[in-house]
Amino acid sequence: MVQINENYLLLKSNYIFAEIDNRVEKYEKENPDAEIIRMGIGDVTKPLTKAVIDGFKQGVDEMGHAETFKGYGPYRGYDFLIEEIIKNDYTPLGIQLDSEEVFVSDGAKPDTGNIQEIFGMDNVVAVTDPVYPVYVESNIMAGRGGQMGEDGRYQGLVYLPCTKENDFIPELPKTPVDLIYLCYPNNPTGTVLTKEQLAKWVEYARENKSIILFDAAYEAYIQEDNIPHSIYEIEGAKEVAIEFRSFSKNAGFTGTRCAYTIVPKELMGFDTSGNSYSLNELWFRRLTTKFNGVSYPVQAAAKAIYSAEGQEEIKELVSYYMKNAAIIRESLAELGLNIYGGINSPYIWVKTPNNMDSWEFFDLLLNKAHVVGTPGVGFGPSGEGYFRITAFNTLENTKEAMDRISGLSF
Ligand code: MLT
Repeated sequence: MVQINENYLLLKSNYIFAEIDNRVEKYEKENPDAEIIRMGIGDVTKPLTKAVIDGFKQGVDEMGHAETFKGYGPYRGYDFLIEEIIKNDYTPLGIQLDSEEVFVSDGAKPDTGNIQEIFGMDNVVAVTDPVYPVYVESNIMAGRGGQMGEDGRYQGLVYLPCTKENDFIPELPKTPVDLIYLCYPNNPTGTVLTKEQLAKWVEYARENKSIILFDAAYEAYIQEDNIPHSIYEIEGAKEVAIEFRSFSKNAGFTGTRCAYTIVPKELMGFDTSGNSYSLNELWFRRLTTKFNGVSYPVQAAAKAIYSAEGQEEIKELVSYYMKNAAIIRESLAELGLNIYGGINSPYIWVKTPNNMDSWEFFDLLLNKAHVVGTPGVGFGPSGEGYFRITAFNTLENTKEAMDRISGLSF
């Protein structure tokens, strides 16, 4: 008789965005005339840019000719893309990377979900709360999180609350932790850490021999100075941090799939006898068994992001969405709502009015304005009483959604 991985039974609810889809689908069936505006999942709406499409098409054409056809690609990704990543995303920040430290992948979601596989089961895992659910749920599935307590927290994980009371700045853990997931600019709160604030985490990780799993998927949205685009801007971080980046949010690759992960060669983990091992080699070992890389045309499309034309185009994409973010911020502030984020991030984190809980506010917006957002509690217990709205819809829909919400009384 086949047995299941019972850790899956510890997951207390659906994946948040699947749950929202279910509820919205049900609502649409019951209200076929409702024109729903989706500002829930952080999915982009603008098409791929011209440079990217040209790169993509060229890649596809090459696959159709014997002289340029490609079979399996290099495990870490094609050098032509890795070189551009290093030259454009890291060298200008004063960060030196070796090409073997870059791993091209099909998304920051799979990489942040899979990375825990190279770490032992006894590691203590810390997450900010609220948090991108993938970090928590991948550890629960692996058996590292234990049962969920009455307070909505898995008992084996360490939660670092980020709320308006602490300006959304997580405190260092009170008990030692081994793996620390940080996402900045933050999903879901849209808040950021300054260099000094992030440096405290690097120092903590160095002192405690911990590893920081740093999700920088939204770095392109940083507008202000002194906000690090990469954790490696902090001295010593290459010894304690893995960084995840993505082309989804800056270049519209949510449906195209391309991202990359940096695993520095300095990074070490230990066996139970205290012998050290290269995490870069372990991650490489994992992916040679489980992954055959991102398709050639997609990597060719990603390379085109780094052309002069591509760089201009993605700047425009980011400013388009940031204009939406400003509209959302202004409209909700005029309604007297307390809002956070949306300045260095495409996410606006809203305190629900009148102590409504997150799902109540979700229902209110869906029923009365036909606008979908994400209930904050779906990101963790400290998200209760908050709500996330994304700036990734079109300008027209964003304005329309804000008009509809402005017509509500809370
Ligand atoms: C989100 O809405 O939090 C993101 O779109 C999820 C993701 O990138 O997987």
